[in-house]
Amino acid sequence: MGWKSEWERAQSDPEGFWMDAARSIDWDAAPTKALHDQGGPVPEWFADGMVNTCHNAVDRHVAAGNGDRTAIIYDSPVTDTVRHITYAQLQDRVARLAGAMAARGVTKGDRVLIYMPMVPEALEAMLACARLGAIHSVVFGGFAAAELAVRIDDAQPKAVLAASGGIEPNRTVPYKPLLDGAIEIASHKPDVCIILERPGLEIELGPRDVDWEEAVAAADPHPCVPVRGDHPAYILYTSGTTGAPKGVVRATGGHLVALDWTMSNIYGVKPGEVYWAASDVGWVVGHSYICYAPLVHGCTTIVFEGKPVGTPDPSTFWRVISDHKVAAFFTAPTAFRAVKREDPDGTFMKGHDLSGLRAIYLAGERADPDTIQWIQRLTGKPVIDHWWQTETGWAIAANPMGLEELPVKIGSPSVPMPGYDVQVLDDGGHPVAPGTLGAIAVKLPLPPGTLPTLWNARERFEKSYLNTFPGYYETGDAGMLDEDGYLWIMARTDDVINVAGHRLSTGAMEEVLGTHPDVAECAVIGVADALKGQLPLGFLILTAGVDRPHDEIVKECVKLVRDKIGPVAAFKLAVVVDRLPKTRSGKILRGVMAKIADGAEWKMPATIDDPAIMDEIGTALGTLGYAKAMA
Ligand code: COA
Ligand code: AMP
Repeated sequence: MGWKSEWERAQSDPEGFWMDAARSIDWDAAPTKALHDQGGPVPEWFADGMVNTCHNAVDRHVAAGNGDRTAIIYDSPVTDTVRHITYAQLQDRVARLAGAMAARGVTKGDRVLIYMPMVPEALEAMLACARLGAIHSVVFGGFAAAELAVRIDDAQPKAVLAASGGIEPNRTVPYKPLLDGAIEIASHKPDVCIILERPGLEIELGPRDVDWEEAVAAADPHPCVPVRGDHPAYILYTSGTTGAPKGVVRATGGHLVALDWTMSNIYGVKPGEVYWAASDVGWVVGHSYICYAPLVHGCTTIVFEGKPVGTPDPSTFWRVISDHKVAAFFTAPTAFRAVKREDPDGTFMKGHDLSGLRAIYLAGERADPDTIQWIQRLTGKPVIDHWWQTETGWAIAANPMGLEELPVKIGSPSVPMPGYDVQVLDDGGHPVAPGTLGAIAVKLPLPPGTLPTLWNARERFEKSYLNTFPGYYETGDAGMLDEDGYLWIMARTDDVINVAGHRLSTGAMEEVLGTHPDVAECAVIGVADALKGQLPLGFLILTAGVDRPHDEIVKECVKLVRDKIGPVAAFKLAVVVDRLPKTRSGKILRGVMAKIADGAEWKMPATIDDPAIMDEIGTALGTLGYAKAMA
């Protein structure tokens, strides 16, 4: 069956299409139907089925006689470790960790915060929560204590599962002090923290802390607890327009069905094959394609603790693909840009056998044609760009290699996946003609696996995604559909930027900068960067009467963002200006400033308060090496 007929079947008969897909999942009680209208903002999928995610990801494979199959390969160049964990071993470790959590009062529906680097125990933590029906919320290790605290207060976790620290190429990152700091700041206090002590990152345990290995060794294995299909599997916080992150909720039943469907139909992999997503468990790619999808599908997943370059060199991707016989590889374009920058001729690829690799998948940010062509040339493999978001949990648009390999159009993530009726709308919410730019929206209902709401924030969910275009989900991306139905993603319509494949809020950075005593007003924009795609750049207006060297204030501001949001913000560029360009109604013209910085064509907005400011902005950007076109 081809893509078109499957897409049409999902449109004309969503019940039949998704109930068929649901057969690949082991239900404790099968759902009576696919879509359930339960009075929520959007309908829920498989709501009345009873199911357990951990059973589907682990236990069922052992029960089927595949306990000796490798579930996880931990490949960690930063600790010089390679370890294989079979499905049977994983079942034992996860069941005991779940037992250890249950012994400390964690039960179905409780939230558990996970703050861990790329070690197999991070997946064990997620799966142990799923085993109990507890709702996990994983926080990326590059976030600082204050960001962690915001998530603790929103999710109100009963327990925290954390590692003593992580390892970056240039330093170790002690997580425990960050966690302690976050709990100190937060109003909500978890009952217990189960801490994995890592070699070289030993710590002293406090009164709330329990040693991970001791707790697991002493625990009784806990069975899988069935939950309803609409039970939240996890909350994953992502950046929105303001400083408060959005808690994207993933419901259990749809998550399982959709992810398993994607493994066969988008990625074209079979149980037993090796699937590698070089991302981080802190991001949605890590949730879906490091942890859940490969395991639910019975594949081997790779937990890679390292970077594309510098651990130790740009051969790492090729080595891991060759050593572990990876069939499908998924990463962000920025990771390949890093490799290309250090090894443009692919010298480091030599001697590595990539014959088992069938395709390379890219997502997380716009895939630039240069990078795609470079990977194609070097590897001779299909390079598949696909477009998705934390909110959807799987690809909205892709080239479904398992269904039908469509012609690649470089620069386009190809076509909408079954279940996604993607339309491009004008400001009034009317579909536009092919080839015309507009807001990208998806006609409701969204397919299984996508968010049913935001955690404790139904109104924000409706305001952020449903109200602008009634009857549609607003993606926040702008772009177009062409005559062949291929989608082209051009830009965000909000203040979200994408730095090295990481989604960040400029609004959140502005809120932090605004707390500096010398900063009266500020604006943060995303400027183009050859490696990371975008970088944040701040404009600072100083409080009247402040008479200190500007470079000192800039340094303090850079440190403030690093301390409050975290190193992942990569906020290193800022400049002091006298005024900011605004419309007559007071809106800061961030988009125009970004165009000037990138040397792109721009027009003086008709609504601008004082056109002369643009020259000042150009000059200020020039001091940082931007706005070359104006300088
Ligand atoms: N814990 C603590 N700190 C972290 C971290 C983590 N898990 N991840 C990143 N950081 C730190 C980095 O050490 C860096 O700190 P520095 O300012 O002291 O150098 C900072 O956060 C910025 O990190 P990053 O933007 O990732 O830059 P980098 O220079 O370390 O690496 C790339 C650049 C391109 C190699 C890297 O970003 C990469 O591999 N990206 C892939 C993106 C990806 O997986 N995206 C997920 C969606 S698919
Ligand atoms: P995240 O929620 O972190 O996965 O970020 C989602 C956002 O990243 C999307 O809304 C897009 O702006 C951007 N994005 C993700 N994948 C792609 C892609 N393939 N092409 C262009 N932009 C992408």
